[in-house]
Amino acid sequence: MHDDIDHILISQQQIAHRVVQMAHQITTDYAGDGQLTIVPILTGAMIFCADLIRHMPIPMKIGLLTISSYPGATTKSQGVTILDQHLGHVKGRKVLVVDDIIDSGNTLQAAVPLLYQHGAAVVRSCVLLRKDRQPQPAISADYIGFDIPDEFVVGYGLDHNDDYRNLPDIVALKPRVFDLKCRANESKLRTSR
Ligand code: IMP
Ligand code: MG
Repeated sequence: MHDDIDHILISQQQIAHRVVQMAHQITTDYAGDGQLTIVPILTGAMIFCADLIRHMPIPMKIGLLTISSYPGATTKSQGVTILDQHLGHVKGRKVLVVDDIIDSGNTLQAAVPLLYQHGAAVVRSCVLLRKDRQPQPAISADYIGFDIPDEFVVGYGLDHNDDYRNLPDIVALKPRVFDLKCRANESKLRTSR
């Protein structure tokens, strides 16, 4: 796994520092409300959300939403599919959607209206990473950890073909990794036809 890393973009120490800052900001903004539901978008936001909420000493409930947009070995958004939802307590509450990264914005654009459909009073969003891409997405997040260049990254919950989520840093992969995995994926598709 470590042989596949090209370079570290954001180290685990930088992430830990920024996550605490974000948690303090969010805690201040929601303090006294007592009506907060956090909704991580799985699977990518799992690690970020787990770290974030442990620095938020305020009452909260947790709902879960599983959305896929980069299935398999692709590095381009393939359109958003809502795979699963265990939203729990959303009706009439303030909801904070948590995702690992905003790229095209399609994921948040699907998640936010869905939460309003379930009766959320106010929906805000929080992402660890925002890609510096053109065109800029129509939707932005309310809390953003880091701006990163427009390249594909993995680690700290982010994956490529469901691998690398457990890397503690956010890293870029060597180009050969994409070539190998894309070729394997294409041949799998060919044999399943
Ligand atoms: P969007 O829908 O294009 O904004 O992309 C957001 C979703 O795509 C995130 O929830 C991620 O799961 C995935 N994603 C976007 N960029 C990357 C990346 O560089 N690495 C891994 N996953 C990504
Ligand atoms: Mg995701």
